[in-house]
Amino acid sequence: MKSIEESILRLFLQQPDQPFSGESLAQSLGLSRTAIWNHIKSLRELGYQIEARPHVGYLLAETPDRFIADEIYARLKTEVIGQNVLSFEAVDSTNDVASSMAEEGSREGTLILAETQRKGRGRLGREWISPKQTGLWSSLILRPEVHPSKVASLTLMAALSMMKAIEKTTGLKAEIKWPNDLYLNGKKVCGILSEMRSEPDQIRYIILGLGVNINLEQDELPKEIEASATSLLIETGKYVSRMDLLCHYLEAFEVYYQNFPNDLGLLLEEVKKNCLTLGKQVSVVVGDQTVTGQAVELDETGALVLEKKDGTTEKIYSGDLSVCS
Ligand code: BTN
Repeated sequence: MKSIEESILRLFLQQPDQPFSGESLAQSLGLSRTAIWNHIKSLRELGYQIEARPHVGYLLAETPDRFIADEIYARLKTEVIGQNVLSFEAVDSTNDVASSMAEEGSREGTLILAETQRKGRGRLGREWISPKQTGLWSSLILRPEVHPSKVASLTLMAALSMMKAIEKTTGLKAEIKWPNDLYLNGKKVCGILSEMRSEPDQIRYIILGLGVNINLEQDELPKEIEASATSLLIETGKYVSRMDLLCHYLEAFEVYYQNFPNDLGLLLEEVKKNCLTLGKQVSVVVGDQTVTGQAVELDETGALVLEKKDGTTEKIYSGDLSVCS
C-alpha cells in the first residue's frame, strides 16, 4: 500500500503548474479537507514547497533535491524495478544494506538509495567517494532465474540503461568502458559494482550497485581522481535533476530486464555500438596476471575477446582494464 502523500504528489506531478483545490483533492482521494491539509503539511515538512493560493488551491512550486520514496513511486513508470524503495540519509555502503535486505528476503526490484555513503565501495577493494546529495548512490536487488554464467551481462545492461538515462536527461553521449564503467569525454562518470550470492546452478540474488557523479563540482573530486573522473555538472555546466536521471535509468533497465535473457543478443549488439573498448589495444589485470591485446569482440555472454600479439585469442570474463591506445 502506497501512502496518501504519494497519491497527492502523483496528482501534482501529472499536471504540473496546475493548482488543486482542497475540495478537489479531497474528492479525488476520498478524504476530508482536514485530512488533505494534514497530508499537505507532512509534504511541506519533507521539503516540498506547496503554495496555498486563496480561492485557487494548492500548487506544487518546488520539489526537494532528495530521494524520497513516495516521490519516486509517483514519478516512476515501471512495474517491478524500483517499486520498493528504501532511501537513507547516510549508510556505509548501499550494496551492504542491499545484501542484508536480500538475505532477509526483500523482493526483486527493491532499490536502496543513500544521500551519502561513508564507505562506498568500488571494484577491487577501491574506495568510491560519495559526497552528500551530489550523486546517485544506488543498489538494486535482482533475483533472475538464470544460470550464474549469465550474470556479467546484467552489469552491461545497467551500463547501457544508465547511458540512455544520461542522454535523455542531459543530451550527453556517454560510452561504455567494458565491463562496468561509463565515460564522458575520456573521463569516468559512472561505475558499477555487481555482487552475487549463488548456488552452483542457481542465483540467490544479485546486488547491482551503481554510482553516478551527478552534481559534484570539480573541487569535490579527490586529487587522485581529478584527472580521470568527471560529473554531469562539470560536463554540462548545469545542475542535473537526480530524480529525472534515476527514473530514466530504472525505466530503461526494466525494459531490458523484462526480456532477459531472451534478448541478450540484441542487448550485446547495443553495448558493442557504444563500447569505447572495442578496437583498442588494452591490458587487463585478471587476478595476478596481465593479459594484453586488441579488444576485438564481445562474445554471446558479454565476455571480452582479446587478440594477442601471437595471433591467438583469449576471452576475459572480468578484470581491471586499461586502454593503451
Ligand atoms: C567501480 O567503478 O569501481 C564501481 C563503483 C560502484 C559504486 C557504487 S555507489 C552505490 C553502490 N554502493 C557501493 O558501495 N558501491 C556501489
